[in-house]
Amino acid sequence: MKTTPNTQDTLFVLFGAGGDLSWRLIVPALFNLFLDGHLPERFLLLGVDRAAIDDAALAERFHQGITQYSRRGVPDANSWRTFSSLIRHQRLDADSAQDFTRLADTLAAHDTEAGSQAERVFYLATPPALFAPIARGLGAAGLAQDREHVRIVVEKPLGHDLASFQAINNALCSIFTEAQLFRIDHFLGKETVQNILAMRFANPIFEPIWNRRYVDHVTITVTETLGVEKRGGYYENAGALRDMVQNHLMQLLCLVAMEPPVAYDADDIRNKKMDVLHALRPITPETVHEFAARGQYAEGWIQGAHLPGYRDEPGVDPHSNTETYAALKLYVDNWRWQDVPFYLRTGKRLAADVSEISIRFRDVPHRSFPASVGLNTQPVRLVIQMHPEQGIVLKFMAKEPGSQLRLRPVDMRFSYKEAFQTEAPAAYETLLRDVMIGDATLFMRADQVEAAWQLLMPILDVWAENPAPDFPNYAAGAWGPESAEMLIAQDGKSWLTPTLPNS
Ligand code: BG6
Repeated sequence: MKTTPNTQDTLFVLFGAGGDLSWRLIVPALFNLFLDGHLPERFLLLGVDRAAIDDAALAERFHQGITQYSRRGVPDANSWRTFSSLIRHQRLDADSAQDFTRLADTLAAHDTEAGSQAERVFYLATPPALFAPIARGLGAAGLAQDREHVRIVVEKPLGHDLASFQAINNALCSIFTEAQLFRIDHFLGKETVQNILAMRFANPIFEPIWNRRYVDHVTITVTETLGVEKRGGYYENAGALRDMVQNHLMQLLCLVAMEPPVAYDADDIRNKKMDVLHALRPITPETVHEFAARGQYAEGWIQGAHLPGYRDEPGVDPHSNTETYAALKLYVDNWRWQDVPFYLRTGKRLAADVSEISIRFRDVPHRSFPASVGLNTQPVRLVIQMHPEQGIVLKFMAKEPGSQLRLRPVDMRFSYKEAFQTEAPAAYETLLRDVMIGDATLFMRADQVEAAWQLLMPILDVWAENPAPDFPNYAAGAWGPESAEMLIAQDGKSWLTPTLPNS
């Protein structure tokens, strides 16, 4: 949901240009923006890293990335020729003041040649250990001081815990203002995630029932069939809680639970989300076992393929205590949500790739129908489907046709594909465009990230101090560990099987 249509002329400086993130996500997204006519008239993609390569070699690498990962596949020759002419490479060592001065000279030369000043976006697609040195280098070279025309973008992981987040953040904030800082959570760029706000606040019918009076509980499910692939090294130090819950799932929770914003603007929306994070009931070390469950995948089968357990993945410690699955129960202690549980679950190597939010409404206060007509077969739920189905489904009971009174569960569906018949942009396309127009609505503010770390710290600490005796505790291809079933079953509820395509 964009509020401003046009991008300004931009010099886009991509740190970590040779890395995986640039290759798989950022450059394919920039190329698609180019194809859709969303790049500004004057645009330069300056790839920066330590490699001693030339412009053509970097462009060739980007070409391969686009071919493999762009939603549009192989680029056509003409478009690629024009786009590749916008690509330059510059060698830079994050510890070298001289290299930053050279970078400043390069950017200044481009502006001088064009006779105008462009916006400058510094995108840090690097390991987080380089965030502070790069920010310092940019600051010392005078590249951060234009508060209005310079922005810096950082990717998760923003820290490993609360203290390391604060250290990274302090380093960034000592050079850049909060308004210049764009912290990416790519889930917020997903079309279906943005639609949560449209659904809730552009329609009058949901708000009256969006509260503890009508909602029994909420589940947020993000499951993946993928394992850790080649990311064992990173994942060993992260785990599901840091990798997915601290950022993506907490953001989804905020969108579902927040109050209506006064205006669709970055500050108002982020303030309302912050109110949710403030209201989350703290989990203490003593109550971690009541509010959180963890799992790690063992070998198993998915779609006919036999897959190794997490401990046998490359780069993973054979005795690893890292969780590849996490489930949480959270309470939002405010007037709207008091005592309504929010259950979050996410994991790798699970039965299906599904992202959905299910709002389960309370049962009818009185049963007029005899139990024999089948009233209990399906609770009324509103399911916001983010992946692979994209849409909204209302699940409720209806009378089966016929002279006998029988009730049956039915679905009322809104499907993106059917309604709009157009392909949605990838999350990174939306977010990169927003960076270029300076719209921070879909980005995380420091206080949100900090609050999320604060909430999770007791769980992270308790889990680190007490290795799970039962790991691995779910087979690849299952829906998760028994402990996650217990987490929700202790409240007399259950995870309902997500709605899969054709189900
Ligand atoms: C990333 C996580 O942030 O999100 C990955 O680091 C995860 O582990 C990915 O696979 C999921 O994103 P998407 O867009 O594929 O649902």
